[in-house]
Amino acid sequence: MFVIFNPYTLPKEAMYFHGLFFYFYCLDRFTVFLISAIIDTKCTTISTLFIILTFIGGILLKLFNIHFINENQVIQVPENTTLLEAEIKAGLIPDAPCGGQGTCGKCLVQIRVQEKSELVKACQTKVHSDIEIETLKHTSKHAILHEGFSRPVLLKPALSCHAIKLEKAKPGENASDWQRLTTALTKVSGTDMRHLEPDLTFVSQIYTLQKEKIYAVTLKNHLLDLKNAPVIPYGAAFDIGTTTVVGYLINLTTGKVCAVASTMNPQVQFGADVIMRANYALEHGTKELSSCIQTAINKLIGQLTKEAEIERNLIYQVIIAGNTCMHHLFLGISPASLVHAPYNPAVSQMLDLKASDFSLSIHPNGRLIMLPDIAGFVGADTIGCLLCVRPDLKEEITLTIDIGTNGEMVLGNREHLVTCSTAAGPAFEGAKIECGMRGAAGAVDHVHFENGNLKYTTIENEKPLGLCGSGLIDLTAELLKNHLIDSSGKLIQSKSSFTLIEPDESQNFNGVYLTQKDIREVQLAKAAIAAGIESLEQELGITEDQISKVYIAGAFGNYMNPQSACEIGMIPFHLKDKIVPVGNAAGEGAKIALINEEELLYADKLAKKISFVELAASEDFQDCFVDNLEFPDFS
Ligand code: FES
Repeated sequence: MFVIFNPYTLPKEAMYFHGLFFYFYCLDRFTVFLISAIIDTKCTTISTLFIILTFIGGILLKLFNIHFINENQVIQVPENTTLLEAEIKAGLIPDAPCGGQGTCGKCLVQIRVQEKSELVKACQTKVHSDIEIETLKHTSKHAILHEGFSRPVLLKPALSCHAIKLEKAKPGENASDWQRLTTALTKVSGTDMRHLEPDLTFVSQIYTLQKEKIYAVTLKNHLLDLKNAPVIPYGAAFDIGTTTVVGYLINLTTGKVCAVASTMNPQVQFGADVIMRANYALEHGTKELSSCIQTAINKLIGQLTKEAEIERNLIYQVIIAGNTCMHHLFLGISPASLVHAPYNPAVSQMLDLKASDFSLSIHPNGRLIMLPDIAGFVGADTIGCLLCVRPDLKEEITLTIDIGTNGEMVLGNREHLVTCSTAAGPAFEGAKIECGMRGAAGAVDHVHFENGNLKYTTIENEKPLGLCGSGLIDLTAELLKNHLIDSSGKLIQSKSSFTLIEPDESQNFNGVYLTQKDIREVQLAKAAIAAGIESLEQELGITEDQISKVYIAGAFGNYMNPQSACEIGMIPFHLKDKIVPVGNAAGEGAKIALINEEELLYADKLAKKISFVELAASEDFQDCFVDNLEFPDFS
């Protein structure tokens, strides 16, 4: 954990505390302090004293070995480091939905200290000796959704390679090599490149290259490469979700997806939802959050190029879709405006940036396109979903919902589109549910009654470990229909919980059960979605029977049973047979933007065309929300 600053900018009194702080705290910071002091030419007696003090501090600092057994990795950390911090330092991606506040209980690890073994919360346990740690299985092997509904689009990418034959300048013709190149490029690309700023590297290449054909790689009005042989340009599209990140590598001469790769969003270690991460960024700066996601994208690019057997520098364009907070944090923009009323983005239009400025290791001139955001809590991932579904082309009224921690939804047709975001909370992601977990191996994903007995399935057929979102709504619906929960959400047999799986049948010997408090969380989440739908219907002046299709995007929507979603009252029952799961629609939209320039350009227009409905300020929404807290009555 390096914090770079120069101690000589502090007042002298502050330096005493500064030195003492380093003395007791952290070797890394001490090292940076020392380096920054050495390179500072204004070294004074007092600062030298502090350097000596901190140096001694560094020597006396107690370091302990942390052995991660499953990962076969050993790291050293200073005393008082939490195990969660140690996991992060080791490059693991621990699950920390509450951001390390000790409230979610999802960061459990098994520790062994001097022959004793214990299950502890990693965020609340500090290091005071050498420790062996067994991280629990569910920190890896997450089921990540890659596929989405694919809408056929014409292969007409913004990125392409053009062959140019430059005629030698005629005697007396007063035109520089650069002018002749940009004029020729304008003809072949259809984009006016005549006012392009000269790039001196290319300028010096033109005279030699013009003897043969020149192959120019362009993206909109950017000249990215000049070659003497044809180039097959590649683009990569990423969907940065709050929980997972999916990347696609596309050959832009064929439009073929050559490789797909995915990972957990490493920012989960700073909190499960966007608010926790935004708050972390406000407290500690955006650096840690942006660099960890940039590193993750670079690793995915490495996997994609390895799978497709191509060089990284053949990728000239990266397109990213993500919610507004993920968008801001990737770019290192402070999310302050997102967490304070009126919750607007710091920037919302489509951005065309130099990829290397964001540590993306692709072609050195490669471009990074950030799809536009609509509002503070309706981001570029919604634009991705809309590019995938294109409700703005349809006569019929459709509803598109992406259910996650927030439920972003868009209602309307080619006449008018309205959107909103409701705070569904992290219940469907497994957080705040006692036996909740994300969709990973061992998660109970479906539950149903059969001959009076509850049957269940788990992801990858592993021994049950917990309940993921789809299992949670199935179980709730089954308990409702079988009168084990009443419409107010109360467990009928006045127990504090309902046991689905006994402890000895579960992976961690805790059992899988649903508590009364878990049911309340489900009620809050489903009421938020249902109230959002009702509010948009009111805004558009329609009733639910006028909706002809409901597109459900995202992993949860893909795996959930639509019938259960309607039975618990999350989606109006009337729409049960109109639900169409569209998978990772945000990723599909990003791919579409890569393949077709018109779709890419249209994304920006679409973002401006949609009317955003702010629910936080709406009294009607609050009433709708309260009305929807009850479950449908099955008595
Ligand atoms: S309890 Fe440790 S991260 Fe939530």
